Amino acid sequence: LTKVVVLLSGSGSNLQAIIDQVTQGNLKCEIACVISNKADAFGLERAKQAGIPTQVVDHKAFDSRESFDAHLQTQIDVYNPHLVVLAGFMRILTAGFTEHYLGKMLNIHPSLLPKFQGLHTHKRAIEANETFAGVTVHFVTAELDGGPNIIQAKVAIETGETEESLAKKVLKKEHIIYPMAIDWFLNGRLKMNNNQTVLDDKVLNPEGFE
Ligand code: GAR
Repeated sequence: LTKVVVLLSGSGSNLQAIIDQVTQGNLKCEIACVISNKADAFGLERAKQAGIPTQVVDHKAFDSRESFDAHLQTQIDVYNPHLVVLAGFMRILTAGFTEHYLGKMLNIHPSLLPKFQGLHTHKRAIEANETFAGVTVHFVTAELDGGPNIIQAKVAIETGETEESLAKKVLKKEHIIYPMAIDWFLNGRLKMNNNQTVLDDKVLNPEGFE
């Protein structure tokens, strides 16, 4: 069975969506381990509930990004995963780490990339008077939130929309598109080639699948 390692820092609702698809038999993989940089991440509880091994690699125990990433890499590679899934993993990654998993690591980011890279995406989208907010699944490269897009989902920003109400709506979309993209990857339909996303042997446009 294809092995996946999931990295997270928080609630883990995306992890839960993935676990649910595995449980229902829609995603054919083994979640070999869930690793968090925070000991109190609720995502670790979700993993334990599902019988998935967990690990904490606390970034505060390391004196540089390089040493943290190097240790994290060692821990991940114990499982020799086919795919590394970042599911709310709130760390900036070193180039060496991203190179090591190039074409084998996915991230989900709560904006319509390339818009609103970084933090507080929903707040910034509302303040910028955007009509739409959304979420992007993309391959991870050395460029922060900059790897080629795989799939996006849009939601309308309505009058009176708050950061919280928007986050809720977007998360619902996240829980649909992330397992979908992972499924494509596991079935060999999805690849990264020359910094572009290839789905079913077709190069996707920069927005990704819509
Ligand atoms: C999700 O909204 C995800 O898109 C975002 O963190 C949240 C994690 O929620 N990721 C980032 O901001 C990455 N920079 P979850 O822990 O409930 O899956």
